[in-house]
Amino acid sequence: MPDANLPLSPPAVMLRDLHVSFTMPGKQINAVNGVDLLLRQGEVVALIGESGSGKSVTLRAIMRLLDERGTCMSGTLSVNGKDVLGMSSRALAAMRGKDVAMVFQEPLLALDPAYTIGNQIAETIRRHERITARDAAARALALFEKVCIPSPQRRLAAYPHELSGGMRQRAMIALALACHPKVLLADEPTTALDATVQIQILLLLRELQRDLGLSVIFVTHDIAAAVEVADRIAVMYAGRIVEEGSTRALISAPRHPYTIALLNSRRHAAEQRGTRLETIGGAPPDLAALPPGCAFAARCSRATDDCRAAQPLAFDVEPDHRVRCIHTGMTAATARI
Ligand SMILES: Nc1ncnc2c1ncn2[C@@H]1O[C@H](COP(=O)(O)OP(=O)(O)OP(=O)(O)O)[C@@H](O)[C@H]1O
Ligand SMILES: [Mg+2]
Repeated sequence: MPDANLPLSPPAVMLRDLHVSFTMPGKQINAVNGVDLLLRQGEVVALIGESGSGKSVTLRAIMRLLDERGTCMSGTLSVNGKDVLGMSSRALAAMRGKDVAMVFQEPLLALDPAYTIGNQIAETIRRHERITARDAAARALALFEKVCIPSPQRRLAAYPHELSGGMRQRAMIALALACHPKVLLADEPTTALDATVQIQILLLLRELQRDLGLSVIFVTHDIAAAVEVADRIAVMYAGRIVEEGSTRALISAPRHPYTIALLNSRRHAAEQRGTRLETIGGAPPDLAALPPGCAFAARCSRATDDCRAAQPLAFDVEPDHRVRCIHTGMTAATARI
């Protein structure tokens, strides 16, 4: 039981009915269509789903990194209890890096090629804190040691292109951690690396998360990586979370036909290495013309007219395991609306 006298800390990230759409000539792309997601303090949530399902857009929305022109966002979005959608640009600049930081798939796109990595880290710290150049440089060195970069002093003086992929990713993690954020958003942080380096970076992220008590949303295509690092997994399809639960529940007893298909395709691929990777039949829906009902219905063997008629609600199939499918065996009385 939590102590009633202690103030309850707000969730690290809370998304309620988040919508993001992009206006393009002659059409509107509905990339995120009512996402509910809770990241508790100190928790790791993996976001998985096919390409184009809205994972990166959701992450970028949390930091308000999407170009405001042509982008429409609505719903509730908070980080550590602060309303992000209502923030001024000054408040946003203060939040980015300090409350929440992001690690991208390709560090070369995030790091400035014209400055040494040491300079970039020191500058980031000095943008947020009144600290001398000497102290900022000392903090950069400590960060490089923390992310296990060998010969850290020498590598701080390097330019991004002078480092290997794995070292660059470690440097970007150091940069992300420079101002002690409590929330880390990692968008496929290991996808661009080779297999052994991927595992090293995953282990590093998990160790840092535990050491620093970070709350993490981790986007990945790799279900083995999600199982390795995540407390909970959220499965995205066509801009919605169709299933979400503890890693154990979701892997051992997936309920949504899409999650089941996704897990089967990966298992099949793992068993038959070297043969053609089996994907889920059919294609994801056009985000500019989403159907009125379940977006997965066109690819689902269990789809009925009811599925195609209206959006399925999210059901709690057990505590902390929610599914957006009318075929989960629940009655409407147990639905959480
Ligand atoms: N700025 C933008 N303008 C228009 N459409 C966009 C923009 N950014 C993303 N999209 C579209 O939104 C959809 C979701 O994109 P998103 O990048 O979130 O997918 P994803 O799940 O991260 O995919 P992947 O696994 O390939 O990284 C895609 O159809 C994409 O083309
Ligand atoms: Mg992406």
